[in-house]
Amino acid sequence: MCGIVGYCGPKRVVPVVLEGLRRLEYRGYDSAGIVYVKDGKLVKHRSEGKLARLEAIIGDAIIEPSHTGLGHTRWATHGAPTTENAHPHSDCTGNLVVIHNGIIENYHSLREELKAKGHVFSSETDTEVLAHLIEDYLEDDLVSAIKNAVSRIEGSYAIGVLWTGMPDTLVAVRNQSPLVLGVSEEDGNFLASDIPALLPFTKEVIFLDDMELAILTAEEAKVFSLSTGEELKKTVTTIDWNAAMAEKAGFKHFMLKEIFEQPQAITNTVSGRINLETGEVSLPEVGLDEEEVQKIDRIFLVACGTSWHAALVAKYWIEKFTGIPVDVDIASEFRYRHLIINERVLTISISQSGETADTLAGIRIAKKLGSKIITICNVVGSTMTREAHGTVYTHAGPEIGVASTKAFISQLSALFLLTLFIAQQKKMISLAESNERGKELIDIAGIIERELPRIQKEVQSLIEGFYDCRDFLFVGRGVNFPIALEGALKLKEISYIHAEGYASGELKHGPIALIDKDMPVLALVPQDHVYQKSISNVEEIKARLGRIILIGTEGDEHLKNITDDVIYLPKVSEMMNPILYTIPAQILAYEIANRRGCDVDQPRNLAKSVTVE
Ligand code: F6R
Repeated sequence: MCGIVGYCGPKRVVPVVLEGLRRLEYRGYDSAGIVYVKDGKLVKHRSEGKLARLEAIIGDAIIEPSHTGLGHTRWATHGAPTTENAHPHSDCTGNLVVIHNGIIENYHSLREELKAKGHVFSSETDTEVLAHLIEDYLEDDLVSAIKNAVSRIEGSYAIGVLWTGMPDTLVAVRNQSPLVLGVSEEDGNFLASDIPALLPFTKEVIFLDDMELAILTAEEAKVFSLSTGEELKKTVTTIDWNAAMAEKAGFKHFMLKEIFEQPQAITNTVSGRINLETGEVSLPEVGLDEEEVQKIDRIFLVACGTSWHAALVAKYWIEKFTGIPVDVDIASEFRYRHLIINERVLTISISQSGETADTLAGIRIAKKLGSKIITICNVVGSTMTREAHGTVYTHAGPEIGVASTKAFISQLSALFLLTLFIAQQKKMISLAESNERGKELIDIAGIIERELPRIQKEVQSLIEGFYDCRDFLFVGRGVNFPIALEGALKLKEISYIHAEGYASGELKHGPIALIDKDMPVLALVPQDHVYQKSISNVEEIKARLGRIILIGTEGDEHLKNITDDVIYLPKVSEMMNPILYTIPAQILAYEIANRRGCDVDQPRNLAKSVTVE
């Protein structure tokens, strides 16, 4: 959460930093700020609200011939989203500024200590403590002052510092919050919380690890260990995303574009990983051989939010195809419960960003207890991929809409492949069956591509009767139950309609009391092995006058007897239904939010990458 950007180089700094911030706004949009050097002094512009407001304030300063600066887009943790609390934060002299992503846990005692020494604070943030702390240690060596300051702080931080004493230099430090450097011989050096900010300028990046400090000038980017002080030889990674991938390409919102990119995301995630002649799944990147797979007697799936829903689907797949019992945990619960984990347990984390604080903490604990760690992740080089023993990358491309769509579908695709891989290693599935299942996964991309425009049209015409409701229920059974949860999450996060997902069979244990003529219920009722049970549950809702939307199998005429609002989907293999049935649920959420005039890509109070617990 929070996006930070820095630049030193031949370009004018203000447009570079603003462009970077625009591409990081999904990380937080409560307030924004920028600072650059002009005539040896620091010039700061800050504004509450979104980046557009900051841009309006900056006005003509966009053409300032300055070449060193920092920018920040905030997701508020300590202090309201006001201009005073927007970053950058200055020391008492105004000659030193800090931008920060993370939480300084001991900020309160440090603030009291610094106030007692005469420092004057002008915000309620934890970050401002850092500016004064560095000031307190600063004589003429900025790097030593920063080292001393960070040795005093507890918590997570990625920080960027600019000081008039070294006006052509940026200093950055990372501990438990993501930070990546962009390097370019022609265009100088960059600093950012995430790769999309760098894409318009360079694809050559250096990922900082915890307790590392970087010094950036226009000519070089050097990285040092905070503990030993020694300069480190860091690998430069070339990113294969391009800047256009982070643009809207004619769609009204990133979310809609990303929904339409899902067929490609499936194809990219699956491609080259299954041999369609032999059925063999090859995932050398997980680093698990047959002997190791044989030893696994339990699997833990750990994730948050939408990624947790992908884990819930995967439990059905893994248990069915591999016979290995699976536990699915919300990472913020997993990390604080008594875990029975040993070296026979495989822990799989699922994360689009690879930076989610709770999920990271979860895998660190499981690793300490002896478990092998695999991560399913979308962001190359993210912290989770560097800490896991193996990574299955989802190839969804950059996901900018705060509500996850294509990342979810590609997580499901990767998890299905991983399931087949483990089943093959355990000899629980024949290559012929594996081949058939693999083909079903590949085919689903084409089916979604073909059906998407029709589904969108049908959803658009039915939402008129539903877009202004206060509540919504989503129900599903078996492997589609997690899709009911996901549909409800999508709707509530982008439209602010209160929505809940339930297992259909669970309704009569309480939630059915909510049903009346004003309660819309979306039910997933594919013709699968629990179809009759699902239909009985829908009849129970109808008997209580609930307003029903059904998503079911093409040709199932019975559904029309229950409600006029039916969206039909082609019949596919039962295990593929969760991938296909996600699509209308996502589109329903999108169309309702759009109809209500909501800010679909940047819903209130949310940030895409949750790097604090
Ligand atoms: C919801 C959503 C979130 C994320 C969650 C985990 O649409 O995007 O619930 O799924 O914050 O994020 P990652 O997958 O980056 O760990």
